[in-house]
Parts: sequence; structure tokens; C-alpha cells
Amino acid sequence: MKTTFAGLEMGSEAFAKDVAQSLESVEELLLKELSSGEDFLTEAATHLAKAGGKRFRPIFAILSAHFGPQPHADEVITSATVVEMIHLATLYHDDVMDEAELRRGALSANSRWSNSVAILAGDFLFARASRLVSTLGPHAVLIIADTFAELVTGQMRETVGARGKADPVEHYLRVVWEKTGSLIAASGRFGAMASGADTEQIERLSRLGDAVGVAFQVSDDIIDISSAAGDSGKNPGTDLREGVHTLPVLYALADPAETRLRELVVAADGTPRALTSDDEVAEALELLNKSDGLVKAKATLQGYADAADKELALLPEGPAHDAMSSLVRYTIARVG
Ligand code: IPE
Ligand code: IPE
Ligand code: MG
Ligand code: MG
Repeated sequence: MKTTFAGLEMGSEAFAKDVAQSLESVEELLLKELSSGEDFLTEAATHLAKAGGKRFRPIFAILSAHFGPQPHADEVITSATVVEMIHLATLYHDDVMDEAELRRGALSANSRWSNSVAILAGDFLFARASRLVSTLGPHAVLIIADTFAELVTGQMRETVGARGKADPVEHYLRVVWEKTGSLIAASGRFGAMASGADTEQIERLSRLGDAVGVAFQVSDDIIDISSAAGDSGKNPGTDLREGVHTLPVLYALADPAETRLRELVVAADGTPRALTSDDEVAEALELLNKSDGLVKAKATLQGYADAADKELALLPEGPAHDAMSSLVRYTIARVG
């Protein structure tokens, strides 16, 4: 009896099968939508979808839909596909911004082709996602438009950096919610709406998405520091190379004893210094892995998992509840 799906405990064999079937429908619709342009577009547009990925946002939307009366409505599949398409589009653009070479264990579109191809492929995905979401009506379009604006604001806020007297940890947590939490919250909202859940449930699943989404990005940032090369399908140390100070770095820098780390990652004017040499990246990663910053970041991560559990406790018991709970555990456990 197989009660697990995508590494998550689903409570029962029937429920695991149910979710797997919904996700299969999402895969079909996703590839259909991404293959709908001219031939020369299709290879680049389907590249990342075919490379793999966890499908975290569609899974979150599908599980959220199980808290409403119609979890098998066509709109649930459409909603789950739209959020993955938006996510994928941002990955194409994020890899250009971060000059990342690897994504989902494959070459990023920018390194396989060029920045221009990656940007245009991302734009094509946004266009297809917009078209698809229009079939869900103007309210859904509004939610996606606002979510996308939040996501871009987060990417921009990260790029501009904390200014003046701004508290860097507060700045970081705001960025993380905007760039990642907002879309995972929208995934919960979308799934619940599509299955006809009541307003209270919709808001609850959106708040659950806020907490899970922030936890998800904090864990991604920890993994960028602590994972071995090849493990995450991305290159560790990318944030340091981009001069982005994530939570473990900010916490470590608050310790006056971390003089060598400060020398490596902070420029003379006090702003983050982007590391360029492999040796410096390796040294900074080693220092960070020994630092209290990593321990503190894991404690913050646990705090968001606890917040998620509080929202979860208010949702009705059943297989969807068990699966959501497993998803929260997974978000914490993946940092090792
Ligand atoms: C990567 O997202 C970008 C972040 C928001 C951390 P995922 O970790 O969900 O990437 P895939 O979809 O599994 O490749
Ligand atoms: C970007 O954060 C998240 C979005 C794509 C909005 P990261 O730059 O940390 O994501 P990864 O590590 O490249 O997946
Ligand atoms: Mg990146
Ligand atoms: Mg990252």
C-alpha cells in the first residue's frame, strides 16, 4: 500500500492516488500550454518544465482544494498549472539575474542558450499564464496580477538592498515573503477558491501559504550555504556570488567574532561584497557552516513552521490535513 506521494505522507492510498492524478493533469496542461507557440519557442519554453522540479506550488494548490467541496473541479487543475507557470517564468528571469548556470539539475536557459533567450522564454511563460488565468475570471486575474507585482517588488527590494538605517533582518524577511511567500499564499488561495471553499477557509489557506512560503525560502537560503555541490540541482554559494546576504549570513555577521567572514562578504563601505573567486566562496561557506548564524537561521525556520502549524490546527482533520502537515515537516526537514 503506497500512502506517500512526492515524498509526502498522504494518510491513505486512495488520497495519494487522488493527488497524483490531479498532478498528472497539471503536467499535461502545463506541457500543452508551453508547447503552444512556434516551433522555435517550444524547446526553450518547455526546457525547465521538462528538467524536473518539485511542483511544490501545484501540490500546495491541490491540497488546499481538498478543504473545499469540489477538489476535482477543472478550475483546480487550471489554478495549479497557472501558479507553476508563474513560478517557472520567474526562474528563467531569476537565473539571468543571478547568473546561475544550473537549475533543476540541468543547464539554466541562460547558460544553455543566452540571456536573451531566457528572458524571452520567461516572458512567453508569463503570457501563457495570463491567458490561462483569464479563463478563471477577473478576480483570479486580479490575484495573479497583485501576486506578481509583490514577487517583482521582492526581487527588486533584494537587488536594491537594505538602505540607510533599515534593519537587515527585517529587510530580508520582507523580501522573502514578497518574492516567495506571496506566490505560495496565492497557490493556497487559488486552490481553495477553485474548489468552492468558504471565505474563512480561503483566508486560512492563504495565511498557511504565507508561513510555509517564508519557511520554504529560508530553507532554500540555508541549502545554498549548507548543501554539497549537485545535491539541490543548483550551485551552492550562488547567493554569496551575487552579494545577497541571506539570513544565516546576517545572523553570523551580528557576531563581532566573525572577523574573517566580515572581511570576505562586506565591502569597505559596509554594503555586501559579491564574491568572485571559487576559493573565497569555499572559505566563506566553510565559515558559515561552522557559525552560529546557521543555527540561528534554523531556529527562525522552526518559528515559521510553528506558525504554519497554528494555522493548520484550525483546518478540519482528514487526509488533506495530514498531507499539509507532512508538507510543513518536509519544508523544515529538507535543510537536513
Ligand atoms: C526555487 O523554487 C526558487 C525559490 C523560491 C526558492 P523551488 O525550490 O520550488 O524550485 P523547483 O520548482 O523545485 O525547481
Ligand atoms: C528567487 O530566490 C526566488 C524567485 C525565483 C522569486 P533565489 O535566487 O534564492 O532562488 P534560487 O535559489 O535561485 O532558486
Ligand atoms: Mg536565484
Ligand atoms: Mg536560492
